[in-house]
Amino acid sequence: MNIGLIGSGGREHALCKKINDSNLVKKIFCFPGNAGTSKYAKNINVDILNFNKLLNEIKNYKIDLIIIGPEEPLVRGLVDFLEKNKIKVFGPNKYAAKLEGSKAFMKKVCKIKNIPTASFKICKNIIDVKFFLKKNKLPLVVKADGLAAGKGVSICKTRDEIIKISKEIFKGKFKSSKSLVLEEFLDGEEASYFILADKKTFKFFGTAQDHKRAYEFDKGPNTGGMGAYSPAPIVSKNIEKKILNKIVKPTLNFLKTKNKHYKGFLYVGLMIKKNEPYLIEFNIRMGDPECQVIMPRLKTDFVKVVNSCIENKLENLNLSWKKEKCMTIVLCSKGYPGSYKKNKILNGLDKFKTKSNEIIFHAGTKIKNNKILSNGGRVLNITSLGRNFSSIRKNIIRIIRRINWKAGFYRKDIGWKVIKKNAHYRR
Ligand code: AMP
Ligand code: GLY
Repeated sequence: MNIGLIGSGGREHALCKKINDSNLVKKIFCFPGNAGTSKYAKNINVDILNFNKLLNEIKNYKIDLIIIGPEEPLVRGLVDFLEKNKIKVFGPNKYAAKLEGSKAFMKKVCKIKNIPTASFKICKNIIDVKFFLKKNKLPLVVKADGLAAGKGVSICKTRDEIIKISKEIFKGKFKSSKSLVLEEFLDGEEASYFILADKKTFKFFGTAQDHKRAYEFDKGPNTGGMGAYSPAPIVSKNIEKKILNKIVKPTLNFLKTKNKHYKGFLYVGLMIKKNEPYLIEFNIRMGDPECQVIMPRLKTDFVKVVNSCIENKLENLNLSWKKEKCMTIVLCSKGYPGSYKKNKILNGLDKFKTKSNEIIFHAGTKIKNNKILSNGGRVLNITSLGRNFSSIRKNIIRIIRRINWKAGFYRKDIGWKVIKKNAHYRR
């Protein structure tokens, strides 16, 4: 079959590689893809939010199945649009996508289903904000309601900060948000838990831990993610049981009662506090860079997995996973997440030799005049499988040094929480 993949990041390169490994695939098309996906797929440069143009391309290239990577087309209803046009598609419908597209919707589901989450108030104006402020202790977290490309969440230590940020949101700083969620700050350890769901059932799809801050020791501004590892040992069997019974099942059941069954990956963003999981966020897709550490561990044919999901046959599918652990470190353009230069050449990358347990996923890259150039803030995801996180990290750092990209920077402490103290921070 011909497969179409929507997106252009490291997550999509990781998905593309897995699709390419499948025996069921004839041709892959990426919309728009990056320099890494062009190794296996035909990249097609089209605006992925222009659904009619996308549909024309899908028909033109006789694509049998569409897999959607990023959140924005999902939140805007691409799945509903393609299904209406009789195209097979992997991802959740527009209603279910509100779990990520609207923080207020997600919180309402938590309230209805009694899902453990930070106490909150959905605020439509500054009076609402002041009311919550009066009754709660600082710090508090301000969240723009709609999608905000990872910039909509602020952890605030002062009342003035909360008022200032709230006013900015009400004035339309994030176009997608006219309201905000103000919530209690939860102090704990973060982890991400993934499932794959169809109409009838769901399957575990791995755990991971991301590193959101730009600099070492978790300092600096928030980013899309500077590195990740999988599995996340903090998710013990006991905690997993609670995640499933208190968070995942009630959410899937809620959508069922609305006749809007979930289909696709669901990313459950958690804060674990005193052995109790609290829902921080839902993402209605694979994580980036979490996907880059989960996909290399999957043994089952990924296209078979996607087909089973679309046909509601997940219950008959046995997913199998490698025992090895996986880590990725994101090589970024200097200046990211602030302003940075694009079109910086990545010399020698096309001929760069890696071993079978090492993968260099491309994120913000493109090809111009046969040269690989940087094209974004997060540029490469250097990924390796292995037996322990400490040696995996050392190996990744060796690879990054060999790449020797002068326009880039990266965190050398990815995985510090799971790497023994004496190995915590060695350059
Ligand atoms: P979100 O987009 O909701 O995942 O928020 C982005 C990041 O902000 C999370 O990954 C957490 O690190 C942090 N965060 C969000 N909500 C809370 C909270 N209630 N308590 C503590 N940290 C939070
Ligand atoms: N790595 C965080 C995310 O994908 O949202």
